[in-house]
Order: sequence, then C-alpha cells, then structure tokens
Amino acid sequence: MRRILIAGNWKMNVIDNILPVARAAEENRVDVAVFPPFVYLERIINELKGSKVVVGAQNMHHQESGPYTGETSPKFLLEMNVKHVIIGHSERRHVFKESDEEISLKMKKALSLNMNPILCVGETESERLSNKHKSSVENQLKIGLGGIENNLKNIIIAYEPVWAIGTGNTATPNDAEEMHSFIREQISYIFGRNVASEMIVLYGGSVNEENVKDLLRKDNIDGALVGGASLKGDKFAKIIEIGGKTNI
Ligand code: PGA
Repeated sequence: MRRILIAGNWKMNVIDNILPVARAAEENRVDVAVFPPFVYLERIINELKGSKVVVGAQNMHHQESGPYTGETSPKFLLEMNVKHVIIGHSERRHVFKESDEEISLKMKKALSLNMNPILCVGETESERLSNKHKSSVENQLKIGLGGIENNLKNIIIAYEPVWAIGTGNTATPNDAEEMHSFIREQISYIFGRNVASEMIVLYGGSVNEENVKDLLRKDNIDGALVGGASLKGDKFAKIIEIGGKTNI
C-alpha cells in the first residue's frame, strides 16, 4: 500500500507561516515534506523539531567536495540529517541546463549515501503538442534510473509536465493518470513489477487545494509536489488535509 506524500517545493521563496503545516501533518494520515532554499534549511529544521514534517533539499552536487563554487555537497546535507533531495527539477533542467547525465550522477550519489531522491521528469509543451511526451519521459527515466542497483525503495518519482509548472494549467486528472501509469510501466521495465508497484509517483504542476482531490483519487497518483500553493501555510495545510482524506 503506497502512502500519500504531500511535498512543498519552495523554490527561491520562503513560506509565510509553517505552523499550520506542522499541525496538519500531525492531524492527518499522510506523509509531508518541505523543500526550503539551502540557507533556510537549518532554521526550518529547528522550527519543525518534533513535528512529522520531513525537511529536504532542492538540489545537490554529485560530488562530495571539490572546486564547485556555489554548489552543495550531499555530505553537508547529511550532516544536517537532510536525506530527501529533489533531483532534476524542470527548472534545473531548463533554466540551469542540467543534463540527463548529470541527473543520473546525482541519483547514483544520493542512493549510494542512502538518501531519498525525488527524480523529477516531465515533457515540454512542444513535446506534448507533437505527441512526444511519452518518449521524452521514457528517456528521462531510462537515463535518470539507469545503472542504479541499490536502495531502490528510497526512490520517489515526480511527474511534472513543464507546461503545467507555475502556469495555472494543471494536467487533467485523466491525462496525469495516463502518464503516471505509463511511468509505473517504465519503472517495471527497469526495476521489475514489485519495485514499480511500491514506488511513490507524485504529480506536480499547478497543484492547489481546488484540484488536488481529483488528482489524488487516481490509482497511480501517490501525492503531489506543490510549488506556489505550498508558500501559504494555511493553503498548504488544506492540501495536506485533503491528502489525508484520500489516504484512508
Ligand atoms: P507549481 O510548481 O505548483 O508552482 O506549478 C510545482 C513545482 O515546480 O514543483
């Protein structure tokens, strides 16, 4: 049985009030994670001490140390007990030009350190319009997950169509479910049926308290990676509450 996970990706922003989030995580049967900017990790970890909310990072480098100005070592994250890390978010891929190969190195490093990487995949608008959305996602999964043999249970996937991120154009529940079931099928080709049936696959892209319920009702959607709507504590708490109701 896969448990619903509601994750908040704050990007280069900070939440207005974390307390409703901690409360909602306490009161609902659902896993909750937040991904603050690096410099806020310590503060948010302290503020959430004793709560059920997991604090993760938005990115990491694939090396543990070296001449990489501006980068963050996975070892630094582990020193703060941060194990969850978003890998290959569409903004990393498209704005910062991260390649599939780099993302693959990050996945391998995170898993070798027993971390919990959230591998983000998703097609661009032009790929969807030219009916290449499945082959694009298939390729991202093949490279991102290729050559991985250890700690498969730690892996989380987030399907985030690029055209849906920050645009208000969320995928319809049926379109999202079609891609989630395709993704689960690809995972089963790579890792086998058992691993695929256990793996959490989140949906991301303009999720809010209005549309989350219908998305989470779908068989292969196991939670949400929420950007904009995770920045207001009250709104994010509402999404967590809806996630808890779907879990029962
Ligand atoms: P959004 O962002 O909810 O603001 O569309 C989602 C994400 O980028 O993870």
